[in-house]
Amino acid sequence: MQREHGLYKLLSHSGVYEFLQQGLGADHARRELVRRWIRPESGNRLLDIGCGPGSLLPFLPESLSYVGVDLNPKYIETAKQTWGHRGEFRVSTVHAMPTEPASFDVVIAISLLHHLDNAEATRLFSLAHGALKNGGRLVTIDPTYAPEQSAAARFIISRDRGQHVRSPGGYHALACQVFSPVGVTVVHDLLRIPYSHVILECDKK
Ligand SMILES: C[S@@+](CC[C@H](N)C(=O)[O-])C[C@H]1O[C@@H](n2cnc3c(N)ncnc32)[C@H](O)[C@@H]1O
Repeated sequence: MQREHGLYKLLSHSGVYEFLQQGLGADHARRELVRRWIRPESGNRLLDIGCGPGSLLPFLPESLSYVGVDLNPKYIETAKQTWGHRGEFRVSTVHAMPTEPASFDVVIAISLLHHLDNAEATRLFSLAHGALKNGGRLVTIDPTYAPEQSAAARFIISRDRGQHVRSPGGYHALACQVFSPVGVTVVHDLLRIPYSHVILECDKK
């Protein structure tokens, strides 16, 4: 569930989306996300749910076996054209995704949860849990409302396309229905603009 009217509609085009991301400093954020939280290892199998046009791939090791899923056919078309040699891409909503066998070391959902209502978010955690091998990890990152954030960050986040921005505790509670333990980190400095992110690290024991 996301805003699709007016200027938001333009963002469904891969070029416009990536142009905006570049302006916000997304490359730095993606590099940090991979280095600090995703921490992929050579040869890992990685499932990227809500992969967009595949923008994280340049920051991941080439030895990864990568599968990306997104509901937007335009993003998936761009991903296939740009990164088809590095992975497999599928069009699907979280809701319609079939259960994957437990074959992935890492599942990621980058800026996806705040687009999902509670029912679809719970489905995401269940799907990820089912797709992970024992010892595997789900990593998510999303905008958040946090008491210590600036008014500017709160305002910018309130204008996001996603209509389910939550507090850190709100995201944590959804993850804990399926995963334990769940690590929660809140950061305010990943982008060039005032912005607050919450990162969840969910272990499958
Ligand atoms: C903010 S973008 C993030 C894209 C990418 N992960 C990145 O970091 O650039 C959110 C993505 O989630 C996708 N999305 C939104 N709702 C979804 C759903 N219900 N099922 C699958 N993908 C969804 C959108 O199409 C979009 O590509």
